[in-house]
Amino acid sequence: MAGETSQLSPIGVFDSGVGGLTVVAALRRRLPDEPILYLGDTARLPYGIKTAETVRRYTRRNVDFLVGRRVRAVVVACNTASAVALDGLDVGLPLWGVVEPGARRAADLSHGRVGIIGTASTILSDAYPRALRRLRPGLEIVSQACPLFVPLVEEGWHEDEITEAIARRYLEPLLERQIDTLVLGCTHYPLLKPLIQRLVGEEVRLVDSAESVAETVASALGGAAGRRGSTPPEHHFCVTDGPERFGALARRILGEAEVSLELVEMT
Ligand code: DGL
Repeated sequence: MAGETSQLSPIGVFDSGVGGLTVVAALRRRLPDEPILYLGDTARLPYGIKTAETVRRYTRRNVDFLVGRRVRAVVVACNTASAVALDGLDVGLPLWGVVEPGARRAADLSHGRVGIIGTASTILSDAYPRALRRLRPGLEIVSQACPLFVPLVEEGWHEDEITEAIARRYLEPLLERQIDTLVLGCTHYPLLKPLIQRLVGEEVRLVDSAESVAETVASALGGAAGRRGSTPPEHHFCVTDGPERFGALARRILGEAEVSLELVEMT
C-alpha cells in the first residue's frame, strides 16, 4: 500500500534494466521539474524472454519497492512488464504502463495497417494488438518479435552493419504487408530509430512508446507538478546489479556527467 506522498515526492520509473532510461529522458523533456526515482532490475534482465508468470512476480516486487520509497506515481517503462503484468495490479497510486499510450498513438496515426515490434514475450502476450483492436476494431495488425535488438543496443551497435542486416530481416515481413505505422514496442528500440526509419522509409510513422507514455504522464501530472523554484530536481537510480555498467550507460543516454546510483537487493 502507498505510504504518505506529496507533490514533492518523485515519480517512480521501473524497467528491467537500462532501456527505461529512454522513458526517463522523455519524461524529463516534458516534466523538467519533477524528480525521478528509477529502478532497473539489472540482476534479472532480460525480461523479454521470460514467462509471463515470472515477469508478473518480478514486476509486483519492483513496483512495491518504488511504492515503499514513497513515490507519488509509478511508470512501468518496460514493455514486457507492461504487456503481461499490469492487468489487475492496484498499488493505490497512479500507475501507467507503455502499452496503452503507444497503442493509442498508433491508432490515431495509422491509415489502417500497423506493425508492432517487441521482445518475444511482448509479442506472445498479444497486448498491443488487443489494445489496438479495442481502440480501432478494423485495423490490420502485423507483429514481429525482434529478440536480437536488445543485446545489439546494449552493445552500442546502433548503426552497425550487422544490426542493419538483422533489422532488414525482421522488418521485411512487415513491409510486405505494407504497414503505414510501426510501434517500437520495447525500451531499447527508440535508440535504433534512425536505422529503422531508414529501412522502413520516411512514409512509415514510427511510434515511440517512451514518448507516448511521457506525454500521457505529463498530461495527467502536469497540472499538479507542484515544484519548485530554481533548484533542479534530484534524480536517483537504483539497480539490482552492476551499478558501474548501468552508470556508464545512463550517463551516455541521459547526457549527464554524473548520476546518483544505489545498489539494492530484491528478495
Ligand atoms: N525492457 C524490456 C522491454 O521493453 C527489454 C529488455 C528486457 O528484455 O528485459 O520489453
